[in-house]
Amino acid sequence: MSKKLWGGRFVESTDKLMEAFNASIDVDKRLYESDIKGSQAHLEMMEKQGIISSEDAEILVQGLDTVKTRIDNNEMAFTDALEDIHMHVEENLGDVCGAVAKKLHTGRSRNDQVALDVRIYLREETLNLIRMLKDFQAALVTLADANKKTVMPGYTHMQRAQPVLFAHHMLAYYQMFKRDMERLEDSMTRLDVMPLGSAALAGTGFPIDREYTCQVLGFSRVSENSMDAVSDRDFIMEFISHASICMIHLSRLSEELILWSTSEFAFITISDAFTTGSSIMPQKKNPDACELVRGKTGRVVGNLMAILTVMKSLPMAYNKDMQEDKEPLFDTVDTLKICLDVYTRMFSHIDIHKDRMRAACMTGFLNATDFADYLVNKGVAFRTAHGIAGKAVNFALDQGKELDGLSFEEMRSFSDLIEKDVYDFISLEAMVARRNSYGGTGFDNVAAAVDVAKKELGL
Ligand code: ARG
Repeated sequence: MSKKLWGGRFVESTDKLMEAFNASIDVDKRLYESDIKGSQAHLEMMEKQGIISSEDAEILVQGLDTVKTRIDNNEMAFTDALEDIHMHVEENLGDVCGAVAKKLHTGRSRNDQVALDVRIYLREETLNLIRMLKDFQAALVTLADANKKTVMPGYTHMQRAQPVLFAHHMLAYYQMFKRDMERLEDSMTRLDVMPLGSAALAGTGFPIDREYTCQVLGFSRVSENSMDAVSDRDFIMEFISHASICMIHLSRLSEELILWSTSEFAFITISDAFTTGSSIMPQKKNPDACELVRGKTGRVVGNLMAILTVMKSLPMAYNKDMQEDKEPLFDTVDTLKICLDVYTRMFSHIDIHKDRMRAACMTGFLNATDFADYLVNKGVAFRTAHGIAGKAVNFALDQGKELDGLSFEEMRSFSDLIEKDVYDFISLEAMVARRNSYGGTGFDNVAAAVDVAKKELGL
């Protein structure tokens, strides 16, 4: 007869290859703390309900502490023969406590057990990530705060468009990561649900008290349908989806940091601490941290495709396919955490080259819109003013000049509404200062937005 915990009905032993194929212990061993916590809560509940005696419950709760210490200290041997973390804990509890360990699995199944474990794990990691996102946002806002007067070209289609404040650019990212944080916070309402007691799929005949287990484990509510509870992995799909969006944001930021570090832009220098050299080209200083964050976005989006595809078309209720949920989940948590950590640190190691940014604002007709706006203020309809400004740009291009490099006579040739004050109107400072519509890049607006962000972060 097979010695497996489920071996009663088996006469032959498992093929070695099948054993290795079936095992998830290499991946799910990181759930041991959650697993033990869940089992201890289950025991407390069974004791309260008189399903097992107080003596047995006490022995088992303490035994589980011993198992935890063994795993903490790397004293537990993991083997494919025991499949997963749930069986390892139960088997080792038997070594510690003897036959009474066979009572632990009363009124539950690995199906509700694994759902519980992953929820406990992800609840904690979601809170960690929310904290880390806050830290990273603080780094962004600190850089914005130091650059409330730093002007740079704003781009559309990667073409110079209109001047903006560097702080405004940083605060755009602040908004993206704020949404990421809100999404994680919101997902808690669906994650914070306690599935134990659903058993294999149909619930149990034992007089369990699910609300009590829920309280002991600090969950907000119990799951309402046992079949849904054991087959629901929405919270994993949702988490990886939110993480993917966050990584997409990080990849966009990475792309800009990489561009800004080129000799062509030279808007920023990332310190030696977060760049690396080339083994052949001595002059090289490569923005590897940014490139890795950009590249790792691919892993996380891949993880999202993996979990969605695993879940696609699965019938009720638990199916072993679902064991494939953990690798993409853990990899996503690890990847997002290290990316946020690296960027939070790297951000205090970035030099901003204000002069280069300002110089880049002086060419490329960033004031063409303002030239048109000037004419609008003199009574010209915007579309007409746009046409006049376009002609002026074309003329200046031919002359190899910028709009503000045109002589007053040249300016007047486009409209006799133009006065000498046009030069002030289309100056860099005036252009930025004027854009004080709510949410715009005006100095006052941006200073206020920095204050709001600092307040939101408790800085
Ligand atoms: N290792 C399994 C998983 O992660 C645990 C649940 C197994 N349940 C079962 N009936 N085989 O999905």
